[in-house]
Amino acid sequence: MFTELPVPVVVAPMAGGPTTPELVAAAANAGAFGFLAGGLLRPEQLVDQIGRTRQLTEHPFGVNLFVPRARMAGDMADYRERMRVEGMRYGAAPGAAVWDDDNYPAKLDAVIANRVPVVSFTFQLPTRTDVVRVRKAGSTVVVTVATPEEARQAAELGADVLCLQGCDAGGHRGALTDSGDGAAGGELYGVLAALRSIRAEVDVPVIAAGGLAHGADVAAVLTAGAVAAQMGSAFLRATEAGTTAPYRQALADGGRNTALTRAFTGRPARGLVNRFLREHSEHAPLAYPQLHHMTKPIRSAAAAAGDVEAMSLWAGRCYHLAADRPAAEIIENIVKQAREAINGARDRF
Ligand SMILES: Cc1cc2nc3c(=O)[nH]c(=O)nc-3n(C[C@H](O)[C@H](O)[C@H](O)COP(=O)(O)O)c2cc1C
Repeated sequence: MFTELPVPVVVAPMAGGPTTPELVAAAANAGAFGFLAGGLLRPEQLVDQIGRTRQLTEHPFGVNLFVPRARMAGDMADYRERMRVEGMRYGAAPGAAVWDDDNYPAKLDAVIANRVPVVSFTFQLPTRTDVVRVRKAGSTVVVTVATPEEARQAAELGADVLCLQGCDAGGHRGALTDSGDGAAGGELYGVLAALRSIRAEVDVPVIAAGGLAHGADVAAVLTAGAVAAQMGSAFLRATEAGTTAPYRQALADGGRNTALTRAFTGRPARGLVNRFLREHSEHAPLAYPQLHHMTKPIRSAAAAAGDVEAMSLWAGRCYHLAADRPAAEIIENIVKQAREAINGARDRF
């Protein structure tokens, strides 16, 4: 599937609004590949997005799903009090810190029923039974991992393709565990180091992601053995993306660093550093999706007020290289940059 792409670029699934059927179709129509972001959507919204994507492109596309984790029962009382005070700035009360499964079973049924060409899983390994069900429907199974050890587990499970997420990636860590560096979601691997180890040990094609924002980066991971480069932040400002106006502006301003934080959702994710992240990160317990639900009304109120200081502004380390252009032009430019990079490197050997 991914080795035959005219352009070895995958437009990452980006839950919470940035991914749209228009973005996925634009990627596919430009010779690349796109994933719909099934996470956080209701099952009927996902089915609707699958239908709309099919109207906009005849090419294959994928759907990404969040695999629910076991409930984590940390004490959230202190954080709720912080959020009560934080919410007063925006006239919003914290939401109920409920655990839920993101409607995963119903969404999995929907992608199987709709025979989506590629299904990718993140946050946890899917069960072996679910892998078999998805493959029986004719779909390619992609599993997101962040370390060589996780790659071995996903390969053993029968994944057709791995999506390796390096630690410079924007958005939630795709790590399967929160052990090791607890704040950061497992051991942190740069994309090239992880790719090298995985290629040495696991015979499954790998899509590489994390901080890739230029055609030279795509060339780098392809020469290192990846079948494609998955890029998220590079498309956050694409015309077809659903990224909100204040978020786009913060990305365009470009002056902020990024950091990993649990402050917004209870699960490590990389975003632009803002006041909320600075003030609450060290206090946030590990409790996804309870913290996601608790902080959501506050983040939404901040977004409605156009205040980026309390919004989750997920972004990878090279977000400042993202362009405000149609996705097809971004992809065309990446191809041009990759060719230049390969030609430049060839002259050295
Ligand atoms: C706004 C945003 C939302 C994301 N949402 C998802 C998601 O729903 N599912 C997923 O597997 N990865 C998600 N990611 C991570 C991407 O799949 C990918 O690993 C990451 O964007 C790569 O790093 P980059 O942003 O530096 O390109 C998201 C990333 C961003 C920036």
